[in-house]
Amino acid sequence: MRAAVFAVALVPFARLVSGFLTDDLTANPIEFITRQTGYWALVLLVASLAVTPIRRLTGWNDIIKLRRLIGLLAFFYATLHLVTWIVLDKFFDLDIMIEDVVKRRFITIGMLTWVILVPLALTSTTNTIRRLGRKWQTLHRLAYVAGITGVIHFWWLVKADVFEPQMFAAVLAVLFGVRIWWTWRTRTPSPS
Ligand code: HEM
Repeated sequence: MRAAVFAVALVPFARLVSGFLTDDLTANPIEFITRQTGYWALVLLVASLAVTPIRRLTGWNDIIKLRRLIGLLAFFYATLHLVTWIVLDKFFDLDIMIEDVVKRRFITIGMLTWVILVPLALTSTTNTIRRLGRKWQTLHRLAYVAGITGVIHFWWLVKADVFEPQMFAAVLAVLFGVRIWWTWRTRTPSPS
């Protein structure tokens, strides 16, 4: 199962590499790579947040083993997205990058999203999970924050058609709703 998820999630990356090698990345390759990597980072981030609700709704417990892999793949695409921006879009020009982060709100929140993902990726080894115990769970709730800021980043950058960011927001809202409902049910004593 893990191998299958890994292979499927790497298809967009393989398409980018083959497009790069065959010079077939649309008329604006930088924009294409930036958009593809950003899109898949968000898809995988939201997919990682869906794992626990799917497990609880379906009783398919083994799906939990995929969560770390999906989260790390999201981080992989988010980092490719950042590297594309630094190397191909901004040519390592630190002044322009700082100006962008400060002045363009969608870049500010995109950067914030990536920064939130860093400690999550760094603490995803089995040893760290064991060492941090409950603190690990608390820290990894930040994945929800990254989901929200990632969607806001997408929403703020689209000029007119907000349909796709709206869809991501709707999926996130359902995932939050399910979690809040469970928390409320487990905390409310049932009438006897
Ligand atoms: C690390 C800092 C980040 C920077 C500097 C950045 C920058 C950008 C830029 C320049 C674009 C293209 C805008 C356009 O074509 O008009 C973009 C698109 C996008 N980014 Fe980011 N981003 C960052 C982080 C993230 C992260 C962490 C995620 C997701 C978790 C993300 C998700 C997206 C999405 C979904 C798109 C739009 C893709 C589409 O058009 O289909 N970005 N980003």
